[in-house]
Amino acid sequence: MCQAPSVPAPERDKGRNLSEAIPNISQNIVRLRNNLITYLTAHSIYHHLAKTIKLLTQSAAKMPTEFISVTFPNASTELAPIPGATIDVDYLVRYARTLDDLTYNYTLVPYSSSGYDPFTIGATIAAATKNLKIIIALRPNTLYPTVAAKALATLDQLSNGRAVVHFIAGGSDAEQAKEGDFANKVERYERTEEYIKILRRAWQSKEPFDWEGKYYQFKQFHSDVPPVNGTIPVSVGGSSDEAYRIGGSLGDIFGLWGEPLKETKEQIDRIYAEAEKAGRTDRPRIWVTFRPIVAETDDLAWAKAHRILDALNANKVKGGPGAFGLGKPAGEAPAPQNVGSQRLLEIAARGEVQDRALWYPTVTATNARGASTALVGSPQTIVDSLLDYVDLGAELISIRGYDNLNDAIDYGRYVLPQVREVLRQRANGAAKA
Ligand SMILES: Cc1cc2nc3c(=O)[nH]c(=O)nc-3n(C[C@H](O)[C@H](O)[C@H](O)COP(=O)(O)O)c2cc1C
Repeated sequence: MCQAPSVPAPERDKGRNLSEAIPNISQNIVRLRNNLITYLTAHSIYHHLAKTIKLLTQSAAKMPTEFISVTFPNASTELAPIPGATIDVDYLVRYARTLDDLTYNYTLVPYSSSGYDPFTIGATIAAATKNLKIIIALRPNTLYPTVAAKALATLDQLSNGRAVVHFIAGGSDAEQAKEGDFANKVERYERTEEYIKILRRAWQSKEPFDWEGKYYQFKQFHSDVPPVNGTIPVSVGGSSDEAYRIGGSLGDIFGLWGEPLKETKEQIDRIYAEAEKAGRTDRPRIWVTFRPIVAETDDLAWAKAHRILDALNANKVKGGPGAFGLGKPAGEAPAPQNVGSQRLLEIAARGEVQDRALWYPTVTATNARGASTALVGSPQTIVDSLLDYVDLGAELISIRGYDNLNDAIDYGRYVLPQVREVLRQRANGAAKA
């Protein structure tokens, strides 16, 4: 009789029935699971190691600390407003050249619904300077992203690679509504996220591409205006959860206002955590912003600080225009909606002076309108205070005063070189050690 050929049992299972074989199967599954765990652990350790090495390399090859100022279209200041002032080209160019000559690295061209157009101001600065990088503040609601991609790349070519874009999702519903934007805060940040992705694609894409997003849809867009270095640095500013998420996951730079060291550290940690969550192997460079009040000695600087505060309070009543609308009086302004300003006001309520010399009455006097935390002291106190933030991880330091041009000159002579010298000595010491 012909027997059906039996399926050969594995050697070790020969002579066993099924129930005896089952423990073996389950042992194999356990072994397989263990192998898988070992593999995944090794893989994740490898991944983690690679990431750590990349971050270490990034901080070893850290770019030098850089300084930022703000562009002013005319001589009007918060202390001495010039009602009805228009663009004073001589002043604009002189201010920009002063920054360039004193080796500031960047100037921010701010945006407000009632202010000047940052792109044309930026092109004028580009023509008048050699090294100064131009940070264009951009609200996504004001310009279609493909147009912005070309406008920024045009400025980048005009300035030989000196354009930077700083994103403002929009901190006030009323301010956004003035230019037809009725999106809520979450939507504004979502739109910013989509916008940044479009800009990067537009700068890099060799081929025409379609976009089917929530906020933007277009077909077969292509730009013939590439940025000089292939892309343009993208900065994001804000202090809300949404800002941390978008800036942490997509920003080359993250802009913060001046908070005490502890709170600044907390914000930096949040931003880095978002970068890591997004799977990034690098991190945004941190930008912190102050309004230093500097004089020959600490005592003289404090006397100057109180004179400035009196002038700010007087102008709050009097009113007056300022740069790009940033210098408008607080008056009886409602509580700010943007988290960055809310945080500044909360900290201001805790006390006038934080850390070495961080002064908050200027915040209260202006209702935390824009960057408003002062640092008060002699050049040495200001230098030491700024170094505290460098030690926390800040790589870009924005400083602008209240007497705009004169303060920019003072910082350029007594602050920038001293901070750089300390950092140079530290780097030499580290290299020798
Ligand atoms: C360094 C820095 C620069 C900023 N520049 C501007 C500006 O030029 N114009 C403007 O309307 N808002 C500016 N902002 C404000 C915020 O970008 C804005 O309030 C944000 O969209 C919402 O803030 P939030 O996330 O803290 O709520 C700036 C913020 C920072 C940190």
